[in-house]
Amino acid sequence: MAQQKTILRALAGETLPTPPIWMMRQAGRYLPEYKATRAQAGDFLSLCYNPELAAEVTLQPIRRYGFDAAILFADILLLPQALGADLWFVTGEGPRLSTITTADELAQLKPLDAIHDTLNPIYETVKILSRELPKETTLIGFAGSPWTVATYMIAGQGTPDQAPAHALKAENRPVFEGIINRITEGTIEYLSMQIQAGAECVKLFDSWAGSLQDDDFIEFSVKPMQRITAALKKKHPDVPIIAFPRGAGKRNIGMHAAIGADCIALDDGVDAVWAAENVQKDGCVQGNLKSSHMVTGGDTLVSETRRICKAFSKGPHIFNLGHGITPDANPDNVQLMIDTVRGA
Ligand code: CP3
Repeated sequence: MAQQKTILRALAGETLPTPPIWMMRQAGRYLPEYKATRAQAGDFLSLCYNPELAAEVTLQPIRRYGFDAAILFADILLLPQALGADLWFVTGEGPRLSTITTADELAQLKPLDAIHDTLNPIYETVKILSRELPKETTLIGFAGSPWTVATYMIAGQGTPDQAPAHALKAENRPVFEGIINRITEGTIEYLSMQIQAGAECVKLFDSWAGSLQDDDFIEFSVKPMQRITAALKKKHPDVPIIAFPRGAGKRNIGMHAAIGADCIALDDGVDAVWAAENVQKDGCVQGNLKSSHMVTGGDTLVSETRRICKAFSKGPHIFNLGHGITPDANPDNVQLMIDTVRGA
């Protein structure tokens, strides 16, 4: 059957006259309706595990802006929690986890088939969304990449340079590789279940790919993501996969094939004209507007949006930011970006 949804058409390699659009962290604290629902849920994790309310916040930016895709409301750190790590969020600071750095701690993680006990509410959110989304809107599921998730599991929090994960990699390679493997296997299970529940596309967030150098980048960013895409494609050959190796820079060349992804999401560190020539030639790209334009707006937002649309206009492109929208963004600037992309 011919594919009608614009996001899925772009992911299949079609060049569209107007790129479809969605936004990383489109359900978030810059929206007053999100803050209200979050207050109702109590805290962030209670919101993630409440299918009705998680579906509600996923739908809010679709109702307000008519984005072409909705991304499941959840977090990349729910998988470590499902594997047995303690997880909590400190207001104003971010996530905290119990750490895994020894063979004993690795051995104590839960077996793979136990993760669904924790993650079932997430699949329920996906089911609600696949019923309630407008028929033209694509539902995107997601997970973190093994490396990025490992950086949080090893450090117990976000780190500017991922030093604890790099240290474990140097000092206890078997444990480090064991953690990467366990996350890889868990992610295959988790994303397969999201797809079975109704996700039409999945995205792998490798937010910290850029801190891996040389062979490590191939071994611990690219290869685990490739293992995940290969396993998912075997089970669900028609479900497209977006990979986001943030900070990969020139290493984005050849990345579609290396990861086995249908689309490479680009951060704002690569130039759009360069990326059109060197990355988009291999398939769909997504990105790469600086998130800060959602705070500052104005003529620069309009001209930058147009520049990116023009640079990617000769191939498959999904318009998006280079990273998540920030809580200080102005919701009116999001509308201005959308109007500019759609030529209104
Ligand atoms: O994009 C979406 O709208 C879907 C939902 C989503 C969230 N997190 C919700 C969220 C997605 C796709 C993520 C991914 C995620 N989570 C990543 C990878 C992408 C990236 O940003 O690099 C990472 C590294 C995390 C881990 C995480 N979650 C951190 C470091 C934080 C704290 C920083 C912050 O923005 O507060 C979170 C919290 C989080 N995840 C929020 C949201 C909406 C804010 C929570 C709140 O309401 O207070």
